[in-house]
Formats: sequence, C-alpha cells, structure tokens
Amino acid sequence: MIGTGRSSRAWFEEYRRKRKSADEGERVIGAEDGAKQGRTRSRSFWSLLAAFWRLADAARPIFALALATRTLGTLIALLPPVLLKVLFDSVLGTDPLPAWLPLPDDRVALLWFVAGGLALLPFTATIVGLWGRWKLTKATRIMHAAVRRRVFEHAARLPLHRVQRLKSGGVTALLREDAGTVSDLTFNLVYNPWGAVVQLTGTLIILAIVDWRMLAGGLLVLPIVWVTHRAWIARIRPVQRDIKAVKQQTDAHATEAFAGMRIVRAFSRETGETLRFTRRNHFAARQEILAWWWSRGIEAAWDFLIPVATACVVLYGGYAVLGERLRTGDLVMFVAYVTMLLGPIAMLTTSATSVQTQLAALDRVLDLLGEKPEFAGEQPERTADRASAAGRITLEHVWFAYPRGRGAKEQSEHERWVLEDVSLDVPPGSVVALVGPSGAGKTTLCNLVARFYDPQRGRVLLDGIDLRTIEPTSFRRLLGIVEQDVFLFDGTVAENIAYARRGATRAHIADAARIAHAHEFVERLERGYDTVIGERGVRLSGGQKQRIAIARAVLADPVVLILDEATSNLDAESEALIRDSLASLMRGRTTFVIAHRLSTVRDADRIVVIDGGRIVEEGTHDTLLALGGRYAGFLARQLEHAPSSPVPRDQDASLPHEPRS
Ligand SMILES: Nc1ncnc2c1ncn2[C@@H]1O[C@H](COP(=O)(O)OP(=O)(O)O)[C@@H](O)[C@H]1O
Ligand SMILES: [Mg+2]
Repeated sequence: MIGTGRSSRAWFEEYRRKRKSADEGERVIGAEDGAKQGRTRSRSFWSLLAAFWRLADAARPIFALALATRTLGTLIALLPPVLLKVLFDSVLGTDPLPAWLPLPDDRVALLWFVAGGLALLPFTATIVGLWGRWKLTKATRIMHAAVRRRVFEHAARLPLHRVQRLKSGGVTALLREDAGTVSDLTFNLVYNPWGAVVQLTGTLIILAIVDWRMLAGGLLVLPIVWVTHRAWIARIRPVQRDIKAVKQQTDAHATEAFAGMRIVRAFSRETGETLRFTRRNHFAARQEILAWWWSRGIEAAWDFLIPVATACVVLYGGYAVLGERLRTGDLVMFVAYVTMLLGPIAMLTTSATSVQTQLAALDRVLDLLGEKPEFAGEQPERTADRASAAGRITLEHVWFAYPRGRGAKEQSEHERWVLEDVSLDVPPGSVVALVGPSGAGKTTLCNLVARFYDPQRGRVLLDGIDLRTIEPTSFRRLLGIVEQDVFLFDGTVAENIAYARRGATRAHIADAARIAHAHEFVERLERGYDTVIGERGVRLSGGQKQRIAIARAVLADPVVLILDEATSNLDAESEALIRDSLASLMRGRTTFVIAHRLSTVRDADRIVVIDGGRIVEEGTHDTLLALGGRYAGFLARQLEHAPSSPVPRDQDASLPHEPRS
C-alpha cells in the first residue's frame, strides 16, 4: 500500500478486466484495494428511492407543490401543437371548428389567436414552472444542510474503532461531496422525471386520440429504450461508484500525508508520496474517461434514434395524407408531438446517467447511516449525577479484545485478548498507578473505564452500578482525561481549555491554567489566551500542549481522572513544577495514572503492575518493593542506570519504558 507499485495504466487494465467480470452492482475499487472494501453490493433503485423519500421528510410538502406546478406547466406546454392543427386545417384550410369551442369564426382573427397562443402558452408554462423550481431549490438547499448534518452527527456517534477506520479524508469527502450530492436528487430523481412522465402520458393520450395506429408504431421505440438504458446503467453506475471510492482514498491519503509531513520529510519520501498521489489521480482519470464514453454512448444513440423516428412518422403520415386518410394539420401536430414524445424519453435516459452518480452517493451515505452508532439500542435506566457520584470504579473479571472490522466473525478468542480476567477495585478518591511494559494494556484498561469500549466479558462498575446501565453522556461528564498525544483543536488557547466546560469564564480558564502551570507560558504568548493554536497545535511544544490538556482536565473538575502518560512530554523540571498541581488535582478524585516516572508512581495509593493484559502485582510502593517481584525488578534496573542515587524515594527517576508502538 505504501509503495507506488505498478503504473496507473496497468492498474486500470486490471480494473477493467475485473469490472467486466463483476456483477452489476459490485464494487471493484481496483485490484489492490478491492480486498479492503468489505461490502460490495449496492442497493436497488427502488430501495434508494424509498430511502431518499425518507430523507426528504420536511421537504415533502414542497415536493408536492413543485410537482403540481410542474404538472400544470407541462400540460400548458402540451397545447401549442393543437394550435398548429387549427392553423393548418381551419385558418389555412377550410375545416370548420367544433361549435362548442369559443373561438372566433373570422379566419384572420383566428390567425391572431393562434399566433398569440403560440407566443404566450410556453411563456406561461415557464413562469408556472419557474415558481415551482424556485420553491424546490429552496427546499433542496435545506435538505442539503439536513443530510450533511445527519451524516456528521451519525459519524460522530459511531463506535471509536469505526471512526478510526473511516479515514479522516474519507469522512470529509463523504460530507463534502456525497452528502451534498444527495439533495440534487430532488431534481434528477423526482422533479425532472415527473415532468417527463406527465409530458409522456399527455402526449401519448393525445396521439392515441389522433391516430392510434401511428401511436402503436411510435411505441415500438420503447423496448429499445429500455434495453439500451439497462445496459448503460449496469456499466455507468458501478464505475461512478468506484470513482468516488478511489477519490475518497486519494483524499484520505493526501490528508494523511500532510498530517505526517514531518515524517515524510524526515525520511525524504516527498517524491514517493507525490507519485502515490499522482498515480491514484491518474487511475481515477482513466475511470472517469471510461464512464464518459458510456455516457456519450447513450446520448449518441438518442441523437440517432429521434431523427429516425421522426422520419418514420413523416413517411407513414405523409402517405396517409396523400391517401386522404389524414388531415394535413393532424400530420403537423403529430410530428410536433412525436418530438415531444421522444424528448422526455431522451431526457429520462440522459438524466438517468447523472442520477447514477447521485444514487451512488446516496448509497454510500446510506451505508454510513446504516452503521450502528456506539450505544445503539441501549435504554440506560439511570443517569450519573456528579453531585451524588462517589467515584468508586470496579472492574470485575474483565476480558477485552479490540473489535475488528465490520463483518468480522466473533472474536477468535484466546489469541486476541488484550485484557484477561482483570479485577480491580478502586475506592472513591484514591489513586491507582498502572505500571507495565508498552503494549501491556494500560491504556486499554483506561479506555474501558472511560467506556470508550465495553468489555466482552465481565463488568466495569461505577459505585457498584454497571456502566452499561448508565446513560453514557452523563457518565462521561464525570471524566477528565489527559493523554500523551494531546489533541488541540484549531482555535484559541482559551477555547481549547474551555472545551471541558461550556460557559467557563476567563477567570475559570486562567485559574485552571495556573494549576496546570500553563498560565505563565500562555501569558507570554503573543496574544495570551487569544492566541490561535495552529492545526494540531504546531506552535506549541509537546510539554506546553500537555499543560493545556491538564488545564482542560482541571476545568472539567472530574470525579474520575485518567492521566495516561500525561506528563511524559514534560522535562523533569516542568514535571517537578506541576507535580504539586497534579497532586492537588488528584485529591478527592478517583485517579488512574499511567506514568513511567517513579516520582508520580510511588505516591499512589496503589500500584498495579500489568503485563500481557493481566495484573501481575498489586500493592503500595513499599510492599511491592519488599515483595521483590516485577516492580522491584523495574526499580532495580532503574537503579543500575542511576547508581549514584541509591535511595529511590528521593529521586526523580524513570521506570524503564519501551518506546510506544
Ligand atoms: N485501537 C486499537 N485497536 C486494536 N488494538 C489495539 C488498539 N489499541 C491498542 N491495541 C493493542 O492492545 C494492546 C495493548 O495496548 P495498550 O493498552 O495501548 O498498551 P499500553 O498502554 O500498556 O502501552 C497492544 O497489543 C496494542 O497493539
Ligand atoms: Mg498506553
């Protein structure tokens, strides 16, 4: 995946081969990525239409209104050919008009009437149609925003492992393009086809009245339409879908490359990344040209079919007029209607091709909306209340494995467990330090406490109540989390700190910053608390970011505090500075602290040594030291590295720690 591999041409050739042998709706992203796309089938047209109708909800009355105006406008537009018949047979010819028609008898007056009608009828039809279009456009824009909102909302509620799998570029592409495209379906799927259907039916009825035999001939075209249409759809829609997917991957890759630009530079991979990017773009371009050929194929077929059909009608009708079986006016009218008949059919087929793109987008939006959100179907019976929550956290025989991709079979147990039979009881307000090698499962344990995941076996309890029965948002409001990789939003320092508590005042923010020892450096920033932190906080050092994150946690005033290597980016001096602040932050809160600095660990009420997903030792600093087990081993190794300070209690040493994976 990282290498550039074959040329985009070879890739595309393989794609075409696979595409040809694939079923109609199947997704073939391209040879190398195909395997990664779990689902293949797209929905049927009718289920997409139904889904679209459900998405439209509030806009439906306007849809109805727009369809009504479209009907009216189309019917008005159907009248002019009748005027042509009047012109040829009653003005230029000698046929009397039906007596019940309130039309002038005088032929010159009738001529004026016909001319006026020919000028005004299309105009009226346009005005009526325009008004409906305007209403519908407004409704479409509203729907546009609503669909995007739904997609965002839903993506934000997906389980964490799904969010991580939807690469960042994937979500934004879905939001920017697909979710927006869906609303365009109002025109291509509802409004325009409806107009075409009305015009088609109206024309057919009139034609049947004039000469049903000629109509029967005209209808012979329809099966041909159907066959070409089906064949085209089977070709274009899947390719459009694949194009989207490839573009999404390309976007995701670009986002990733720029997020990791430091690494790209560090390993001089700029050229490689550019090649990778270019190759995907070339591949997408080849796909687009393929789809373009198919679309133009449809149009060309129609450009050929319409004149041929018209010629046939003229031949047949001309013979009929010569044989005096038909009036001249009827033939003129008929030819006019035949063009009107083929127009909507051609429109339906060509708009069908753009509908395909939009249906593919809808399909992908539905894929996302169909995914189960994090706490789907749960009916928690209680909410956590910060005033009454004591903060006892208990893990009872917890077994946990990270969920794998969608559709993966049940856990293939035994090998995948990240936590095995972990039991731990943390009384309210006490501090637990988690110690262990990298990958032991320390962060995972905290993830379960924060309920980012639920254990497969066993329970996690807050004050004796299973977390699964507590309303998740209310529970998470009790939490404060500081992690090693601090995430700061693109905003000011103050906004980032206040993220923990809506409506926090400047004074609150500054207080929190003071406790986290962030106040001093923030004050020294160019614009103080109003300094805008660049995307991902590039303008702050790792230690500064951590102090902001700590301030954020201080402001949250949590009942349960999780410090996951929260001070790892601080140098010994800064850490010593905020040690007291952290101590006061931890006071009275149930705290899980993961740290490899001895100074942070040794004062914990309890130290839990984790290895390979199991708790291997548990006790205070002194008892564990006396025990002479794993913990003592860590310390001993620590002392080897710092032989000059034999008394670990007074030394700011680090527990050995392998680099994070
Ligand atoms: N989001 C994740 N998805 C799948 N596996 C994970 C995830 N996070 C961590 N792991 C795996 O779980 C194990 C424990 O990881 P972790 O709890 O982060 O270790 P620690 O924090 O002790 O260094 C590791 O083997 C790691 O590869
Ligand atoms: Mg960790």
